[in-house]
Formats: sequence, structure tokens, C-alpha cells
Amino acid sequence: MRKTVKTLTFAALTALTSASCAPTAGNINAFNTDLEYCDIQVRRTLSELADSTGTIDYTMSPRNILDGESHWNLRKVDRTEWCGGFVPGILWYDYEVTGDSAILTQARRFTEPLLALAQTPVYDHDIGFLVIPSIMNGYRLTGDETYRQALLDCADSLATLYNPRVGTILSWPRHVGDYGGHNTIMDNMMNLELLFWAADNGGDDRLRQIAIHHADTTMAYHFHDGIAYHVAVYDTLDGHFLRGCTHQGLADSTMWARGQAWAIYGYTMCYRFTHDERYLSFAQEVADAYLKNLPADAVPFWDFNDPRIANSALSDLTPSDSVAPRDASASCVVASALLELAGYVGKEKAKEYLSVARQTLTTLHQPQWRGGEHCPAFLLHSTGNFPAGSEINASISYADYYYIEALIRARKTL
Ligand code: GLY
Repeated sequence: MRKTVKTLTFAALTALTSASCAPTAGNINAFNTDLEYCDIQVRRTLSELADSTGTIDYTMSPRNILDGESHWNLRKVDRTEWCGGFVPGILWYDYEVTGDSAILTQARRFTEPLLALAQTPVYDHDIGFLVIPSIMNGYRLTGDETYRQALLDCADSLATLYNPRVGTILSWPRHVGDYGGHNTIMDNMMNLELLFWAADNGGDDRLRQIAIHHADTTMAYHFHDGIAYHVAVYDTLDGHFLRGCTHQGLADSTMWARGQAWAIYGYTMCYRFTHDERYLSFAQEVADAYLKNLPADAVPFWDFNDPRIANSALSDLTPSDSVAPRDASASCVVASALLELAGYVGKEKAKEYLSVARQTLTTLHQPQWRGGEHCPAFLLHSTGNFPAGSEINASISYADYYYIEALIRARKTL
């Protein structure tokens, strides 16, 4: 019998598996095996990027491997390419795991071109996605003062996009005309980490206040029933909320999986820096909205309201006209966030969150989800921008980044 996705939701699965949440040596070994797999893929990527003389062009960063392809497509690292920080971030995590000085050297070299962002006028909110995985991890692991200063300068740059009348950062300056006002996207929650971090590491306390205002305004206007709009539009001059709409989701009010994932991770991170209980309960509210209709294997479809989900079986990993694509990247962002969130909540809730994280990593351990020998990415089956027809059923660098982050957190937690 064809098992459709609706027949076993995550809530049912959690009930079945919650008794087996205790950490075991077996879990730790499985995560170590997965981290070893990541290290193999990292080394394959590095050797693919080297030319015949062994030279790598560090100004070009792997972005994706599209459906049917087997090699990375590269993009120039600059302020307009939002994914340029993820491969450096993967290298920092791989260095953290392996302690290999050759990987450290590569992490430093891939991070180097991003330091220019500290001297360049900000392009949009993605400066956070560019420097948090790369420079912030570099600073965490090396204490290099150049990295700290660059992060402080980038935080000041991001803060220039803040509109105090609205109470949020303008995410896309170039799209103010298209949206008819100050636009803020859910993804921007992730970039508040740069402001909180800077305020704690020698930057102005105003950066923390901006992050708090942004998180509060977003909490007030950017959701309906715990579900995130992708874009919130505000009046630039008087700051009032105009409307919620989508850019990468199916429709304005549907749950675009990665947008919801950014919200879960974002509010969990806000709690880490502020210990404000409002953020903790909101992180749970948005997590619970996501978990309610999550497929049993814990990897969401690209948008929870795609009508084709009803036709889709969990084994349908190649989307077609009648079957909805998955988004492994969202599952990795959420798994990583839940591993953190579980540390802040009561025992029962923690069990549920850890169970979802474990299921995600168990699913992604299976060969059909992995680049494996076929390509050097860690994972397959992410969806970048479905409405634009871009990066559907692809390997994407940010999926791999949040995957290795989740594995490292799981090794410590599960
Ligand atoms: N930040 C853009 C995305 O999630 O696709």
C-alpha cells in the first residue's frame, strides 16, 4: 500500500519513540560516523576546487549542485551573494571536529575574502548570513582579533538598515519600490545574532536594543497563528504594518518551510542572548506550528500547504508535476534549533524536540538523502526558491552548514 504523508505525522511518531530518548553510546557513534562522512565530503570538495597545480580560487564559493549534476556551481564571494559564508563555516566546523591544521588553513583562506565586507557599505540584511558562519566561527575557534574587529564593523553596518519608526531592519533595500514600503523578511531573524554578539563583544549596546526591537516587532506583526509570513511590509515613514506576503512560499499565508525554520532558530537564539521568557515561549509556539504537520521522517515539504503533498509518499524524493519537493535545508535548520531549544524547556517538551532532531538526523543518514559518491555535497533534496524555479531538489551549501552544526550539537546533546 502506498503510504501517503498524511498517514503518520510527526506527532504520532514522537508518541511511538519518546520512550527511547536516553543518550546511548550508539547515538554518539552514529553522529561520529556522520561527522566522518562530512569530513570526507569536505576533502572531496577541496580537491575538486583545486586546479591542476593544486591552487584554489578563494574568491569563488560553492553554492549548489543542481538536480542531475554532480559538481559544485560556484559564485563570486561578494556582498550580493548571500551564501558565500556557508562553506567557510563548514570548514570551521570540520576543523572543530577534526582538529586538522590543514582544514584550519583552508577555513582561514575561505574566510579571508569575507573580511572585505567590514569595509564595504551594506547591501542588505544577508551580511549576517555571510559573516556569522564564517568569521564568527573563526573568531570562536581562534580568538583572532582581526575577526572580532571585522564582526563589530559588520554589525555596525547591518545596524544602518534599522528604521526606528518601524522597529525592524530593512531586509532588502533594493526591493522597497517592489513592496511599496519597508520590507522585513523572516530570514532576517537569523542575522540578529550578529548584533547580539557584537553588543557582548565590545560593540555598542545600541546593537542589542536594535535586535530586541526587531525581534519584538516581528513577533507582533510577522505571524498569523504561529505561522510566519515570509515578508512583512511596513510604512517607511510612520512605521505601521501594511501587510504580510510571500516571496519564496506558495502563497502569502502558507507555511514556507524554511521561513518557519528561520523563525524557530531565530527566536531560540534570541532567548540564548537575552533570557527573555517571551522569546522562549514564542520559539516553542512557532516550533509547535511546524511540528504539527511535519512528515514522519521529519524532513518537510518545501511549503506545508503545497496541495501535492496529499499525493506524495515519503519515498518520492524526485519531485514531479504531481509530487511536492522536499527541503532538507529546513530540516537541518530546525534540527539544530531544536537541539538548542531542548536545553531551555521542561523535560517533556525537551524529549519531544530531541526526538524530532534525532529523527531528522536518522533520516538524513540514509543514502537516498546524501551526496555520497554521486557528489561532494553532504546532502541532496533541498529547495531554494520554488516559485522562481531555482534550486529545486538540489544540494545547497546552507543545508550542509546547518547539517554539520546539528551533528555537532547532537553529539553533545543526544
Ligand atoms: N535567505 C533566503 C532563503 O532562505 O532562501
